[in-house]
Amino acid sequence: MSIETIPDIVRHVYVHIPFCARICPYCAFYKDLLDRSQTDRFCEALVAELRMRAQDRHVVPSTIYFGGGTPTALTTAQLERVLGGFRETLDLAQLIEWTTEANPGSVSAGKATLLKNLGVTRISLGVQSWDEDLLRLLGRDHSPAHIRESFEILRRAGFGNINVDLMFGLPGQTLAQWRDTLEKTIALNPEHISAYCLTYEEDTDFFVRHARGEFRSDNDSDAEFFEMTMSILQDAGYSHYEISNYARPNFESAHNRAYWSGEDYLGIGPSAFSTLGQERTQNVCDYRGYADRVFRGESAIASREGLTSQMKRAERIALTLRTREGISADLVQDRQSQVREFLAMGLLQRRNGNFALTAKGKSLADSVAEALL
Ligand SMILES: C[S@@+](CC[C@H](N)C(=O)[O-])C[C@H]1O[C@@H](n2cnc3c(N)ncnc32)[C@H](O)[C@@H]1O
Ligand code: SF4
Repeated sequence: MSIETIPDIVRHVYVHIPFCARICPYCAFYKDLLDRSQTDRFCEALVAELRMRAQDRHVVPSTIYFGGGTPTALTTAQLERVLGGFRETLDLAQLIEWTTEANPGSVSAGKATLLKNLGVTRISLGVQSWDEDLLRLLGRDHSPAHIRESFEILRRAGFGNINVDLMFGLPGQTLAQWRDTLEKTIALNPEHISAYCLTYEEDTDFFVRHARGEFRSDNDSDAEFFEMTMSILQDAGYSHYEISNYARPNFESAHNRAYWSGEDYLGIGPSAFSTLGQERTQNVCDYRGYADRVFRGESAIASREGLTSQMKRAERIALTLRTREGISADLVQDRQSQVREFLAMGLLQRRNGNFALTAKGKSLADSVAEALL
């Protein structure tokens, strides 16, 4: 049997670091204010959980993704402990991509060099905007100068694969401000750009302010921002390979691609999801309780959900429709009349035997996916 056909090998690992120096009012990810008295213990727990879970499964990652929260909120010594623990525990012979998220202003030259030396190949930098007023509205603790400085530090440390995260559709944001943010980002020449439309997530300050009517959301103007993004980034040589993601040739994120195509992944850390075979689990969303459990030798899993083939099919439709390659025709065999209608409306096109969104269809991706489920 070839190595690819052995089902129990897990090839993708996600690691959640929940600490942030400041809490952004739009963010719904599991995170907590950085408490330096807790971080050493937390780092030990991460490595301990990895060791436990790597006993049950054969984990030979081709991709690892450290997200958050803010992984770079950990000190250089703590990152060394955690990454070193991962290196000791896992067979990294097949690793092709190791991403770490970083916030501007949180990466010193020493930290960047350590990440590079320990095998991190890709950095995802949370820029969000280049506009000082919008950065303030977003509660960010960085300035445009911090963005430039962090980007240069990462380049000098030898990172040749950097993603920049941006957000559009922000309250009061103008198209001119968004154009300026895109142009300043392109001027840095990152290999990858993620551009997300702001979502008002439940349980955030922004959600409450939006519900009170303080912020207006407008689908038409979101579509204008989205179209501007596609046009400017494609003209600058970035390929639009997923609704929110643009990359220079050969710099698409292998980790995200695996996730979109429904591959199994193991999640380590508080709140992390894992999808392994027909089961999805989520770890407890409380980093202190998480560490307590792990140190008692107990599982950190708080909830489990069985995945039926119907659920897996629906997820694959929703996720692959958002990609450049589109949906494989056999996934929508029983939705032929709907597919024909979208082809006739110019929302879908045929691509290498698949159905992919057209430029017009991309603005309506969620509605198209819903109709195909
Ligand atoms: C895991 S998050 C945060 C990473 C990092 N801590 C930061 O803030 O830069 C990854 C990205 O999701 C995006 N994001 C977070 N909240 C969002 C929201 N409510 N709507 C749209 N995008 C969001 C941001 O672009 C962010 O950089
Ligand atoms: S957006 Fe990033 S920095 Fe802000 S609270 Fe969320 S995870 Fe932390």
